Amino acid sequence: MHFATRVAAMYLDANATTPLAEEVWAAMLPWWREGFHNPSSTHTGGKKARAAIEEARAQVAELIGAREDEIVFTSGGTEGINAVLQSWDRMDQEGNFLTTAVEHSAVLRTGAALSRTMALCGVDALGALDFEQWREGLAGAAFASAMAVNNETGVIFDWQRAALLAHEQGKAFFCDAVQAMGKIPLSVADTAVDAMALSAHKFHGPKGVGALYLRRGTSFSPLLRGGGQERGMRSGTEPVAAIVGMGAAAALAKRQLEQKVPDAIAAMRDAFEQLVLAGTSGVSVNGDLRSRLPNTSHLSLADCEAAGLLILLDEKGVACSAGSACMAGKQQPSHVQKAMGFSDARAKSSLRVSFCYQNTMEETLQAARHVIAAVEKLRSVQGAGVGPVVIYSS
Ligand SMILES: Cc1ncc(COP(=O)(O)O)c(C=O)c1O
Repeated sequence: MHFATRVAAMYLDANATTPLAEEVWAAMLPWWREGFHNPSSTHTGGKKARAAIEEARAQVAELIGAREDEIVFTSGGTEGINAVLQSWDRMDQEGNFLTTAVEHSAVLRTGAALSRTMALCGVDALGALDFEQWREGLAGAAFASAMAVNNETGVIFDWQRAALLAHEQGKAFFCDAVQAMGKIPLSVADTAVDAMALSAHKFHGPKGVGALYLRRGTSFSPLLRGGGQERGMRSGTEPVAAIVGMGAAAALAKRQLEQKVPDAIAAMRDAFEQLVLAGTSGVSVNGDLRSRLPNTSHLSLADCEAAGLLILLDEKGVACSAGSACMAGKQQPSHVQKAMGFSDARAKSSLRVSFCYQNTMEETLQAARHVIAAVEKLRSVQGAGVGPVVIYSS
């Protein structure tokens, strides 16, 4: 399979996944070839592989202000979430699992499969956590979890406050920080978070690798047992190249945060929104604009089904999402937007555009023009009473 396209691709779907950074690829390459050894082997090759893993652990720990022995490598965000929630479910503490109504399905589906009841805390119309409900929910909870950042809207939760309130009531707190890492400063230092899940492919690292932060002393029993790798917390021969890639991606993210690269990304996002708002009617920008990721634009486009919009945009080489990638292809409105009180029609007419440092202002503006044209086209077809239809562009 090759990826030649008719038009230059404008990849604006960074919350689904990010392109591998060139320097991450370069760092990984030797570990796919000459550095193939098993890091548990005692010969020189094995020792070098072990040292490479430990360097990556230090890079990940540094980015989030953790200690190295608090980082456990996993296969990604989903595994980290399952490992912690299932582990805590096995604790004999009575009570619910409290989480939020807008979590990723990795949390919601894992939560629904636990042996205890899952209680959902709501959000307001801007997607911000309802702390009154959170406090009440904690009373009946054995442990709790809240995401750092919502993958659809980009809204940043005050997860530090959620963690503190959980600890005040003696409850363990887990944070799904998959969408926060690398996009905004993220530190576990001086917080009450007990465990946090991270995933490399969301910040220009490879897919299939992630990390769990487990605060020293946090109760945890492993999901995967076997050879005792990762200090017994996660057995299985380590994918050295992928772990090295995650470390390199963390180092890159740290540098980019110091150099204020997210501000430049926000400038592209803002220019995109301004152009779309000026170019067509019936557009609303969703989410808490004072507390959202610099890279994410979540728009509702009145009278315009996102499913059709995505097809037209894809034809022009613009890759983005309706709601979230996991929702694409499904006709149900997103649970996140429903929790924010959106009608089904509004939820089905929303577009998520998410940027990264590899985008340019030129392609951003080009993409905005394509969005305007696609919206107008779709509305004219729908207005003519031809619907529901599959739109084929010329
Ligand atoms: C908020 C959030 N949590 C968890 C995940 C799952 O992470 P992974 O793809 O590494 O399994 C995702 C991925 O989309 C996500 O956005």
